Amino acid sequence: MTDKKTIFSGIQPSGALTLGNYLGAIKNWTSMQEDYQSIFCVVDLHAITVPKEPKDLRKNTLEVLANYIAAGLDPDKAILFVQSHVPAHAELAWVLDCFAYFGELSRMTQFKDKSQKQVGNINAGLFNYPVLMAADILLYNTDLVPVGEDQRQHLELARDIAQRFNNRFSPTFAVPEPYISKIGAKVMSLQDPTSKMSKSDDNQNSYILLSDDDDTIRRKFKRAVTDSIGVVNYSEDQPGVKNMIDMMAKISGRSVESITEDYLGQGYAKLKEDTAEVVIQEIAPIREEATRLLQDKKYLETIYQKGADRAEAIAMKMLRKVYKKVGFVPRR
Ligand code: TYM
Repeated sequence: MTDKKTIFSGIQPSGALTLGNYLGAIKNWTSMQEDYQSIFCVVDLHAITVPKEPKDLRKNTLEVLANYIAAGLDPDKAILFVQSHVPAHAELAWVLDCFAYFGELSRMTQFKDKSQKQVGNINAGLFNYPVLMAADILLYNTDLVPVGEDQRQHLELARDIAQRFNNRFSPTFAVPEPYISKIGAKVMSLQDPTSKMSKSDDNQNSYILLSDDDDTIRRKFKRAVTDSIGVVNYSEDQPGVKNMIDMMAKISGRSVESITEDYLGQGYAKLKEDTAEVVIQEIAPIREEATRLLQDKKYLETIYQKGADRAEAIAMKMLRKVYKKVGFVPRR
């Protein structure tokens, strides 16, 4: 073990990854992996809260893992694994279910949104989803959870559950902090820049997928919705323009001020073209590497098997501690 602090995060294998997943989550992970004990999961248990074809789930799970590696996560440093391979996640989730309240789970905005989208299938998994997420995080004594803005409420719940459990018994879980970067934590839709970019959007032009080819990316940016002001400013009143400046800033590491200055006196067409090129330069190599990795299933298998072994060793220690605290009789 190291004395480094621990980060944990995960992505659902519920379809191709978006530029939002990349800029809001994965890109931060790659820069943090040097300084933290890093654990990144493909959260397949979470994914089945929305109906999935088994063959698609299998395919998407490997795709997410391949993209993690292609984007620069180093399997020798970070622990990369598949959630269902470590049963302690589901087991701790059950215990934590008994420390989570119906009222607080009912207030989760993501539960409310998703329930509206699947009125005929508001299953208990969808409701308990944030408790499983708390289990993911708390199993590893996680200090920091790098996520996009939309996960903030779930993180707060994980903190509440950790504190509740610690108070009821004795200090058991580290109380995790969210890590939500200032730029890129909420990448907006290209078609409606007042709402989040999401792969579940019906309009394919609203999102960029990491698997999109260069011309598709150019076309989607060309069609991006802006406003009728016609001058490039970094302002809440111009969310479409702001979204593109944010993307450039997040990818290049430059300040939004200096990027905005570059476009003084220029129209939106140039901003759209340049943003598309910056995005392509960043994600085309990831797409190519992920495609290559996906042809080598054996390699991916060794990565997720090794990852699960390492994760399980940590997770089982915590699960045993929790079982003991709540009063379960040990098997041996
Ligand atoms: P998921 O799979 O919906 O999204 C994965 C990550 O991508 C971020 N994200 C975005 N960031 C910026 N702009 C966007 N438009 C955008 N869309 C998505 C999300 O904030 C997230 O960080 N519940 C989680 C998965 C999860 C998890 C965990 C995360 C399960 N257990 C434990 C952290 C720790 C989820 O559904 O993310």
